[in-house]
Amino acid sequence: MRKLAVVNMKGGVGKTTTSIHIAAGLALRGHKVLLVDADPQGNVGHTLQLQARHTFEEWMTGEAPLDAVVMRGVREGLDVIVSTPAAFSLERRLAGETQRETILSRRLHKELTDKKRYDAVILDTSPAMNLLTYNALLFAEELVIPVGMDLMAVIGARQTLNGVLQVRELWPDRRLELLAVLPTFVHSGNHASKATIEALESDAAIAKHVFHPGIRQCIDLNYATASHQTIWEYAPRSRAADDYSALIDYIERGKTGDRYASDERSETPPFAESLARTA
Ligand SMILES: Nc1ncnc2c1ncn2[C@@H]1O[C@H](COP(=O)(O)OP(=O)(O)O)[C@@H](O)[C@H]1O
Ligand SMILES: [Mg+2]
Repeated sequence: MRKLAVVNMKGGVGKTTTSIHIAAGLALRGHKVLLVDADPQGNVGHTLQLQARHTFEEWMTGEAPLDAVVMRGVREGLDVIVSTPAAFSLERRLAGETQRETILSRRLHKELTDKKRYDAVILDTSPAMNLLTYNALLFAEELVIPVGMDLMAVIGARQTLNGVLQVRELWPDRRLELLAVLPTFVHSGNHASKATIEALESDAAIAKHVFHPGIRQCIDLNYATASHQTIWEYAPRSRAADDYSALIDYIERGKTGDRYASDERSETPPFAESLARTA
């Protein structure tokens, strides 16, 4: 079973859009997929217009069983666990539990891995290293980091990688690989895009994982979201449909790169200088 989390400490970079399209794209190709929204903002449910009877929070605290929170057949081959703002209180509610920092990932492992029901589990996350994001990193084995075309998104990617290193230090035997750094909102010829791609490529740990050309800026993605559809449903001939299909090809081939080595930690991001130069 593939376990893939979509993360970036910066918001608005296309995490939710990418999670939904990775999940829906793999499902379209015949894989059994579970998409889990680990962001209490609940944007997966908003985008796909899903109303859950039981919340992600209830599953995490053990109040509702997995079967009650999984929404089956959202699309052919695609099940979804949506989140609601109720999950914002998880941090507080789990405060007294022992090993609370792993409680969610242990539940995910136990109930999803053992049943072998899915070929892939995709996690959408919030733009913060909170309890849920941390647990998503403890559950996932592969990461996709979408990076919008601005400096803050590159910094968010670097902060995410530093969070990954912390997880690695605490759990050295865990597999956690960077599958792709995914440029999003790419506008070729546009100055901000060029500067951002250059910044990504000047960071050694990031450069070798950048998936080119990424997902181009495409208004059809906004319209697809507004009409609660995937891009393949809303505008199958759009460039976003092509770009996300290329990403699915890459994910299906499935080979991740080298492990992200701990000596690649960067306190002063090497990209800052190149960005300042091109700005
Ligand atoms: N490549 C793109 N081109 C144009 N709009 C996009 C693109 N990717 C995402 N969007 C839009 O940008 C907004 C924010 O994306 P979202 O996936 O919610 O980001 P995040 O989850 O990182 O906060 C959404 O309205 C989405 O439809
Ligand atoms: Mg989101």
